[in-house]
Amino acid sequence: MESIKIGIVGTGAIANAAHIPSYLKNPHVDIVAIADTDPAIRAEVQGKLAEKTGHPVAAFAEAADLFAGGVVDAVSIATPNRSHVELAAAAVKSGHHVLLEKPMAFTREDADHLRAAAESSDRVVLIGQSHRYRDDVTALKRFADGGALGHVYHAEARLVRRRGTPTGWFTDRAWAGGGPLMDIGVHALDLAWWLMGKPDPARASGRLTRAIGADPVDFSGRWRAKMPHNQDNAIYSTEDFATALIRFQDGATLSLIVSWTSNGPQDEGLKVNVYGDRGGLQLDPPTIYSTAHHVLADTVLPVKMGALFQNEIDHFVECIRGHQSPLSPVADGHTVARMLVAIAESSERGQEVPVH
Ligand SMILES: NC(=O)c1ccc[n+]([C@@H]2O[C@H](COP(=O)([O-])OP(=O)(O)OC[C@H]3O[C@@H](n4cnc5c(N)ncnc54)[C@H](O)[C@@H]3O)[C@@H](O)[C@H]2O)c1
Repeated sequence: MESIKIGIVGTGAIANAAHIPSYLKNPHVDIVAIADTDPAIRAEVQGKLAEKTGHPVAAFAEAADLFAGGVVDAVSIATPNRSHVELAAAAVKSGHHVLLEKPMAFTREDADHLRAAAESSDRVVLIGQSHRYRDDVTALKRFADGGALGHVYHAEARLVRRRGTPTGWFTDRAWAGGGPLMDIGVHALDLAWWLMGKPDPARASGRLTRAIGADPVDFSGRWRAKMPHNQDNAIYSTEDFATALIRFQDGATLSLIVSWTSNGPQDEGLKVNVYGDRGGLQLDPPTIYSTAHHVLADTVLPVKMGALFQNEIDHFVECIRGHQSPLSPVADGHTVARMLVAIAESSERGQEVPVH
């Protein structure tokens, strides 16, 4: 079978750290084109890719030109959040398979629009909820699906950073749609909700706070966006801290707390706990809490995080080849977006709101 032709839309930090190296290692695909609005970034990545693939790689300033030409079969979209839905819907409507970075959408209308576009086509649309593709998560999910938890009644999800505000457009609400809620909250919420078994959300109560804002300190890691816009975080129009409680139709609850900057202990990565009446699940370290023979019998799974992005890209390719079906489909992205929007809405209104 011929190689699947791949285009990368938005060739910034995550494209270079995750998408491009993972496609280069997949034997069934070939990166043949890129699109990026920034001429310097575009030229740099075009040159690097030509060297790595051994053939010329087409480069477009406008994604629309990449979508128009029948140049590629599938695209990764890794642009700032504000263009996700417009680009993904255009890609799918022009006949391309799409892997879209998170968050899928940050308004209800956008989430509805992309879901409708994806579901009226036969193309693969995968949302880049990369933590679902971790080996330790895959192992835990098998226990959850096998009934180890029984009836699930609560989950908690957190990623509280001491200092770790991403540079660039991330703190500009117009580009990002929100702060840590849209950046890392989307991962924490998605993972906990999925491990719970995807209960139907009913109501949300949330509070977004900008308490500290831009407060760069030395010797503390930060994600660095490649796009030049707002590199010094002079525009800081998002929250830096978010907390929420989601109530589900079956009575279960989910609590969420995320921050880019806070005066508390630093979480080294996502923390998720899921509580059921038969057993419990903890993400880090991966543990199943249970009882046997009237004895507490907890199992720590000796499974590491693994190569989540390689797993995600390989899965996307297998979906295109018809061998697998999307593990993080647009319908799930749509429900997660509805919960995120309700959290932000609840914060604005100062009261619990329905998850429409
Ligand atoms: N899955 C993860 O864990 C993870 C990690 C980091 C970032 N991300 C997501 O990846 C996306 C990109 O983040 P980043 O850190 O790589 O940002 P970035 O600024 O480094 O890269 C974005 C690139 O998109 C280009 N661009 C902007 N608008 C464009 C448009 N309309 N068409 C084509 N190109 C355009 C910019 O010039 C830039 O090169 C974000 O949505 C972010 O949430 C996901």
